[in-house]
Amino acid sequence: MSTAPLPGFPAGFRWGVSTSAYQIEGGAGADGRGPSIWDTFAHSPGRIADGSTGDVACDHYHRHAEDVALMAGLGVSAYRFSIAWPRVQPDGSGPANAAGLDFYDRLVDDLLAVGIDPVATLFHWDLPQPLEDAGGWLNRDTAHRFAGYADLVAARLGDRVKLWITLNEPFIHMSLGHGTGLHAPGRFLLFDAFPVAHHQLLGHGLAVAALRARTTSPVAIANNYSPVVLRGDTDADRTAGLAYDGLHNRLFTDPLLGRGYPPGFDPAVVRDGDLDVIAAPIDLLGVNYYNPTGIRAPEEDSPLPFDLVPLDGYPRTASDWPVVPEGLRDLLVGLRDRYGDVLPPIQVTESGCAYDDAPDADGRVHDPERIAYLDGHLRAVRAAIDAGVDVTGYFVWSLLDNWEWAEGFTKRFGLVHVDFRTQVRTPKSSYAWFRDQVVRR
Ligand code: BGC
Repeated sequence: MSTAPLPGFPAGFRWGVSTSAYQIEGGAGADGRGPSIWDTFAHSPGRIADGSTGDVACDHYHRHAEDVALMAGLGVSAYRFSIAWPRVQPDGSGPANAAGLDFYDRLVDDLLAVGIDPVATLFHWDLPQPLEDAGGWLNRDTAHRFAGYADLVAARLGDRVKLWITLNEPFIHMSLGHGTGLHAPGRFLLFDAFPVAHHQLLGHGLAVAALRARTTSPVAIANNYSPVVLRGDTDADRTAGLAYDGLHNRLFTDPLLGRGYPPGFDPAVVRDGDLDVIAAPIDLLGVNYYNPTGIRAPEEDSPLPFDLVPLDGYPRTASDWPVVPEGLRDLLVGLRDRYGDVLPPIQVTESGCAYDDAPDADGRVHDPERIAYLDGHLRAVRAAIDAGVDVTGYFVWSLLDNWEWAEGFTKRFGLVHVDFRTQVRTPKSSYAWFRDQVVRR
C-alpha cells in the first residue's frame, strides 16, 4: 500500500458509493413488489454458488435509515442506488405501484436531508418476470416498456434525483445473462444474444427522451469496460484482441456516441431511426472498471473469436480478478483518444474489490487490501485527469457487503461489513480511510 498522501482532486469532484436494488434491498414481496428475473433465477437450484437468494439480502428496504446514516458518516456527496422496476411496475407495464415508489421517495428525501446527491439507476438487471415471459430484452417491446417505467419514476422523483443513469452495464447483462447464462435470465445464446444489446440501447434512448420531458437533471448510462491485454503477438492474436475490444468496449459506446455499431457487430434487428434514438445526447458517461482482460487467438474448435487468458503477475482479489490500477488510467485516456470531442465528461460509477473480510477478536474489520486497491485506483483517476481527461466523480463499489449475483453471499465488496445472519453493519478500516484520506480532506 502506498504511504504517500493521495494527490488532490478538482473542486466539486463527486465522491460517492454505489449499490443496486436486488443486491441489498431484500423485501422481496413487500408492498406489492413483483418477481424479477433474478428472483426466478436465484430460486432455481444450482444457479447461485451458495444456494442463497436476494429475498432478504442486506434488508436495506427496512434498514435504509441506518444505511443513509452510514453514508452521512462517510461524508460522501453522492449515493448511486438502483430502482427495482418490479417494485414500481410489478408487471412491467401499466400504472405505478405507489407503495413501491414511496420507498424511493423516502430514500431520496433522507439523502437530501443529509446533503447527499441521489443518483438513481433505472435498470440494474432486475427485469420484471412478466416481461421476461414475453421475451425480455430479446423482444423490442421491452425497450418501450422501459421508457414507460422511466416516465413513471421521473414523474415522482424527477424534481430531486441529481443524476439519472438509465442502464447499468448492458454488456454484462447481455453477455452473462443471455450469452453464457451465468446470470439471470440464464439464456445460452452466445452471439445470438445481440438483439439484447440493441433493445437495451433502444430502451436507453427512449428513456433519455422520457427523462428529458420530466427533469432537467443530467442523464447518463453506466457501461462496464475492460481494456484488452494481448497475450500473444501474432496477427491472429491481434485480430482476437480487436474482436474482444469491439464486443466489450465498443458495442454499446460506439452507437451511444453516434458512431453506429462497430464493424462486424450489427445486431440485425435495427430499424430505421433507431440509431438516432440511441445517440440522443447524454450529459455524462458512467464508467465501471474492475480489471483488464487477457486475450489471445482462439483454439481451432472454439465457438468464440478469442480466448480469454488469465492475467498473471498481479495481486488478485477474492473474485480472482487481477488488481491493475493502471488499467483504469489507460481506459480513461483510451476513451478520450477514441471518442475525442463526442465523449461527455466521465464519472467512474463503480470501482471496488472483494476480499474475505471478517471481524477480528475485537469485532473490528481490517481490510488493508481494499485500502491499497482504492488508493491505486484513485491515483489512476488522478493520472487520467492530469492527462486531460474530464473525470468528475468516483463511486466505490460498494457501500455494503451484499448479494453478489451468482456468487451469492460469498464475495464481500463493502466499505461496511454486513453479518448476513444478524444484519449488523460494521464499518471496515477502508471506510475510515476513505472518509479521512479522500472525502474529508
Ligand atoms: C455490477 C455489480 C457487481 C460488481 C462486482 C458490476 O459488474 O454492476 O452489480 O456487484 O460488478 O461484480
